[in-house]
Amino acid sequence: MPKWLDDAVFYEIYPQSFKDANGDGIGDFDGIIEKLDYIKELGCNAIWMNPCFDSPFRDAGYDVRDYKKTAKRYGSNEDLVRLFNEVHKRQMHILLDLVPGHTSEEHAWFQESRKAEKNEFSDRYIWTDNWFHSPEGLNYVAGESDRDGVYVLNFFKCQPALNYGFLKPERPWQKGIDSPEALATREALKDIMRFWLDLGCDGFRVDMADSLVKKDDEKKSGTAMIWQDIRRMLDESYPEAALVSEWNRPYLAIPAGFHMDFCLDWKGNCYNLLMRDLEDGKNNSFFHKESSRSVLDFFDEYLDSYEKIKEIGHYCLITGNHDTIRAAYYLENRELKLAYAFLFTMPGNPFLYYGDEIGMRYLSLTSKEGGYTRTGSRTPMQWDHTRNLGFSSADQDALYLPVDASEDAPTVEVQMQDPDSLWNVVKEILAIRRQQAALQENANLELVYAKRDERTFAYRRGNLLMVCNPSGKEAVIEEAVLKEPEKLFEIGTASYQDGRYVMGAQSFGIWAKKMR
Ligand code: NOJ
Repeated sequence: MPKWLDDAVFYEIYPQSFKDANGDGIGDFDGIIEKLDYIKELGCNAIWMNPCFDSPFRDAGYDVRDYKKTAKRYGSNEDLVRLFNEVHKRQMHILLDLVPGHTSEEHAWFQESRKAEKNEFSDRYIWTDNWFHSPEGLNYVAGESDRDGVYVLNFFKCQPALNYGFLKPERPWQKGIDSPEALATREALKDIMRFWLDLGCDGFRVDMADSLVKKDDEKKSGTAMIWQDIRRMLDESYPEAALVSEWNRPYLAIPAGFHMDFCLDWKGNCYNLLMRDLEDGKNNSFFHKESSRSVLDFFDEYLDSYEKIKEIGHYCLITGNHDTIRAAYYLENRELKLAYAFLFTMPGNPFLYYGDEIGMRYLSLTSKEGGYTRTGSRTPMQWDHTRNLGFSSADQDALYLPVDASEDAPTVEVQMQDPDSLWNVVKEILAIRRQQAALQENANLELVYAKRDERTFAYRRGNLLMVCNPSGKEAVIEEAVLKEPEKLFEIGTASYQDGRYVMGAQSFGIWAKKMR
């Protein structure tokens, strides 16, 4: 486990929309460099940047055309290396987004692979051997190439699946995981990883990490074998490089070789219940003031996963990401403060999606670059009151996406000046996380108070106790978990009186055990 992950707090940057330094209407590496001090001041010491590679952008860059070349619109490879250096100068780290499961259909490998004549790349993707044979249970495209056969897709139509082999090959066109063809794909992936690690990146967020081996890999043992092999390479040659998986199954992802896995917003997932539970128009998200939920709806599932991996990896909570609807769509400011106080005091490395620190809103927009409903969560960062809210000096109609035009659109500038703002609460909690060893150590969490029919709950991490009451009514917890505790932080009114925690409406408190 790279040491720097002990206290890493990540800030996710969607490069299109963060900061445009050259005035062409789209964010760039230089813009990110300009804002590194901002990210540090907020309390994040690590970055995950969404794909920034050459691409036709039919899926916002998750359709890579050249893994070793940055997209011109963000800057050159040299500019990206400059960004790495600026990040490191500030004792920060940066993860790139690695897309191992598919490329763009415009990638040179695929252009070769689709040719009728056999060549080095014929088996880089998954093809059947006859135009009339479809691969059972997999999405595919037929009728688009000279080559006889159909090819398998990993996500959108523009994203043909790379061939990592099959666990139990049953048809002549299915290669084994250790076949020369599948190994060539795996080696090509390692080569890409080494390329960027040698240039100074600190690791990768891995897109659809569970998707490498298809169909017969329900238990994911085939996919895990491949990642374990890649992890061996990292351990030997890049021991400080970190890997975080988009997998949402830490008990599979961590043993497969990842250092961290995300708890995602997938439907029915426990994370959704906290902040994004909108069924039939009724908001029943746990942190919503009127919700009827108990926090056990979350913890029942979370703890099951957490307990399985807590000694060997990190299970990470997010405020949101480029695929989720912004949290501010479901929760208002005070609710967001409680939700973030919770997320940032839990085990694992927190991930804060750009703009969530000011409660940026979800905008209703037409799809851009394959974003569909996700587009409204990808709008330009709102910095200040200047042109385009400080995102870009370009004309409004040249912007990548429109900025929030509402009169009261939140901005960093305004919130920095207001001690009670969401931004300042985020900053304060992250500072406490940094100062308190107990909040950094992954393997320590005890849910000390939670009831099916109550909203208030308490959890302990080392010498610290966190109590939260998300409801609109005062609540009291009788169990005195810490003796004569010292209050470090509160939202609303949270007090300890004669062995009881008295929690005002919508409150959160952090107490430390008094050291004598
Ligand atoms: C997950 C990414 O987060 C998402 O944005 C993308 O569209 C798909 N994977 C396909 O790469």
